[in-house]
Amino acid sequence: MKFLVTGGAGFIGSHLVEKLLQLGHEVTTLDDLSNGRYNYIQSVMKHPNHTFVCGSIMDEALTDRLISKHDGVFHLAAMLGVKNCVESPRKIIENNVLGTRNILESCFRRNKKVVFASTSEVYGKNPQVPFREDSDRVLGPTMIHRWSYATAKALDEHLCLAYTKEGLQSAILRYFNIYGPRSEGTPYAGVIPIFIRAALENRPLTVYGDGRQTRCFTYVDDCITCTIAAMESSTNGLVFNIGTTDEISIMDLAHRIKRMTGSDSEIVLIPYKEAYGEGYEDMQRRIPDLARTNQILKYTNATPLDDGLRKTIQWHLEEMGLHDDGDSAYFDVT
Ligand SMILES: NC(=O)c1ccc[n+]([C@@H]2O[C@H](COP(=O)([O-])OP(=O)(O)OC[C@H]3O[C@@H](n4cnc5c(N)ncnc54)[C@H](O)[C@@H]3O)[C@@H](O)[C@H]2O)c1
Repeated sequence: MKFLVTGGAGFIGSHLVEKLLQLGHEVTTLDDLSNGRYNYIQSVMKHPNHTFVCGSIMDEALTDRLISKHDGVFHLAAMLGVKNCVESPRKIIENNVLGTRNILESCFRRNKKVVFASTSEVYGKNPQVPFREDSDRVLGPTMIHRWSYATAKALDEHLCLAYTKEGLQSAILRYFNIYGPRSEGTPYAGVIPIFIRAALENRPLTVYGDGRQTRCFTYVDDCITCTIAAMESSTNGLVFNIGTTDEISIMDLAHRIKRMTGSDSEIVLIPYKEAYGEGYEDMQRRIPDLARTNQILKYTNATPLDDGLRKTIQWHLEEMGLHDDGDSAYFDVT
């Protein structure tokens, strides 16, 4: 089949593009490279079944032309990252809402299935875990820009479900903290790559708040398996949690990464307000209920955290031009 992957040069998208090509599909990657990297898709640039288009989902004519030529769309393009929300909320909202509207409208009109990448952030600070797909969303006030991403994605979901009511074929996936190779250690990335880079460079691992907040981290290969299953299965108009139920506190995660990298880094605690300014809100726990995902997407075998971390650390070592010498002391850079 022919698939369009928006955001295909990004962290998750590039893994998806590779997997779809391995499965024998034809794939077009659409990415404006605002956060994606050309080198993430370099290995498939000469693949006979792959086409790369550098462009934006904000370009209505371009997206419509591309969608018309494909059987289905994986819509992953978005601006994300808590730091981006706080620093550039307008960009987050406009890119994620207006761009997604273009994709959904064209898929609806042209009768193409869309799998939309949403986020566990939409549950906000609901304290009642685990989250089922129909759990309440509990968000803070609009003055707190942190909620702009969750709100934009929730509006995207509403629009997707509204089009679905009128006939669009769709599935909505709420990803829970995805990690793996190609998730970079930039300030806009998740905590795992930031900790790994800091540990490998013997810089302090900075933990916000008291470090007792927990997350369920999901290895990227598991996320890709579910994402493809959502396109292939009968999912119409359904929302799925994509994650694991293995919970770890951020403090424990810091210790584990420190140990796995053989790092001498210090672990330091700083208040949220020092990182994100006054009024920042975070959620203490975020755990998915996976009943629907297990049943419909047949997702039962999550990658254990240690296995995923090992592969991710290995990727960072290679990116840094270092190698795993089989010893726990991976490196001697200062
Ligand atoms: N990484 C996670 O833990 C996580 C968690 C929840 C949801 N998600 C969702 O998964 C999707 C992929 O996230 P990711 O972690 O791979 O992030 P990413 O930033 O690596 O990938 C997003 C890609 O979209 C591209 N992009 C952004 N705006 C664009 C535009 N206007 N036109 C074309 N391309 C554009 C970027 O260049 C980037 O390559 C996003 O929709 C994100 O909201 C990710």
